[in-house]
Amino acid sequence: MSETESNLYVRLGGQEGIAAIVEDIWSNHVSNPAIKQRYAQSDPENVKRLVREFFGAGIGGPETYTGRDMLTAHKGMNISDKEFVAVVDDVLSALDKNRVGQRERDEVLCILYSMKGDIVHV
Ligand code: HEM
Repeated sequence: MSETESNLYVRLGGQEGIAAIVEDIWSNHVSNPAIKQRYAQSDPENVKRLVREFFGAGIGGPETYTGRDMLTAHKGMNISDKEFVAVVDDVLSALDKNRVGQRERDEVLCILYSMKGDIVHV
């Protein structure tokens, strides 16, 4: 299968590539003044594992997601539009840092926005 035909999981570098991206997303989040307070009580290894599972399972990888659905996980946090954009920006800069292609970047952006209704003001 050629690179253009393979699923997003493979095109993002598989387990290893995604693990590196998730590390960078986490370090962007905890240094981003708009959202870092949200993660002050979090166990970093646990959140990173859940995010690796969530993305892996959602984009064609072999992972099984063991966390909560997006609505349940974010309900009651009253997350704002501004915070949502901050999270998306952190993901995009992690993709850039890992030299992810434009097509993959666009696909990830669409996936993130598709979940907005389950995350913002819920
Ligand atoms: C499309 C965007 C997002 C995705 C894909 C996402 C994904 C996730 C996942 C997979 C979890 C773990 C679920 C679980 O605990 O069972 C989680 C938890 C969490 N998310 Fe999000 N999230 C997004 C946006 C946001 C935003 C905008 C905020 C606000 C800054 C946020 C704050 C949190 C917090 C505070 C937790 C709990 C962490 C903990 O349990 O320590 N998320 N998210």
